[in-house]
Amino acid sequence: MGLKGKAAIVTGAGSGIGKATAQLFAEEGARLVVVDWNSESGEQTAQGIRQTGGDAIFCYADVSRAKDVEAVVEAAIAHYKRLDVLVNNAAIQIMARLDQTSEETWDRILSVNLKGVFLGCKYAIPAMVHAGGGSIINMASILGFVGDPDLAAYCAAKGGVIALTKVAALTYGPQGVRVNCICPGDVDTPLVQDYFRKDPDPERLRKEVSSKYALRRIASPGEVAQAALFLAEDGSSFVTGSQIVIDGGLTIKCY
Ligand SMILES: NC(=O)c1ccc[n+]([C@@H]2O[C@H](COP(=O)([O-])OP(=O)(O)OC[C@H]3O[C@@H](n4cnc5c(N)ncnc54)[C@H](O)[C@@H]3O)[C@@H](O)[C@H]2O)c1
Repeated sequence: MGLKGKAAIVTGAGSGIGKATAQLFAEEGARLVVVDWNSESGEQTAQGIRQTGGDAIFCYADVSRAKDVEAVVEAAIAHYKRLDVLVNNAAIQIMARLDQTSEETWDRILSVNLKGVFLGCKYAIPAMVHAGGGSIINMASILGFVGDPDLAAYCAAKGGVIALTKVAALTYGPQGVRVNCICPGDVDTPLVQDYFRKDPDPERLRKEVSSKYALRRIASPGEVAQAALFLAEDGSSFVTGSQIVIDGGLTIKCY
C-alpha cells in the first residue's frame, strides 16, 4: 500500500493508461479523483474502483479549459482535504503530416496535449506547495524526442511536455514538488487499437509494429501504470525532472 492515505488526480482515466493508473493507485491505497471529458467512461472507472473497496470520485473536465482544471483541483481538496499526486495523462491524437496539419488541428492538439499539462501543473502546484510537497507525473511519449512524419503536432506537443516537466521540476523542487514524465512507445489502448483497426489488415500491422521492438511486442497499459506508481510513491523521493522511457527497446537502436 505504497500510496496509503494519499490523494491523487488522474486525467484521462476513463480509458487506457489513465484507467490502469487510477486502478493501480487505488489498489495501492490512494484516494482518487478520476477525470475525463467522457463522463460515461470516467464514471465507470470511478465506480469500478469503489466496487473493489477503493475510494474514488469522478470529476468531469476538459483539460484544455482552465476553469475545468481549477475545479478538479478544488474538488480534490474539498473531498480529500489534500492533494499529493497529479497524473497529467489525458491527450488526443490526430494523424497529419506537417504540411497537411490545419491550424485548427494544431490548436486542438496543442491545447489538450500541452496546455492541458500546463493547466494541471498551474492549479495543482500551489496546493502541493501549501501541503509541503507532492508528485506530478506528465504522460509524454517517445514522440517527444523522436519524430513521426504523420504526427507533426502530436510530436511537438509531447516535446513541449518533456520541456515543461523540467521547468516545473526546477521551479518547485525547493518546495518539495517533484515533477517527472513518462515516455511510452506503443501501448495497447483504444488509441493504438483504433490505429490498427483502420488498416485493411490490422493483425499484420500489429505484428509489423511489434517486430520493431527489442521485446517484440507493444506495452500493456498496466506496464506504464507501474512506472507512474514508482514516480508517485515516496520510493522515488530523489527523482525529479526525469523522463522514464518505457518502449521495450524501440528507440535504443540506430539501424
Ligand atoms: N497508447 C499509446 O501508444 C501511447 C504512447 C505514448 C504516449 N501515450 C500517451 O498516454 C496517454 C494516454 O493515452 P491512451 O493510449 O491511454 O489514450 P486513450 O485514448 O485510451 O485514453 C485517453 C483518455 O483521455 C480522455 N481525454 C482526451 N482528451 C481529453 C480532454 N481534453 N479532457 C479530458 N479527458 C480527455 C479520453 O476521453 C480518454 O478517456 C496520452 O497522453 C497519450 O498521448 C500513449
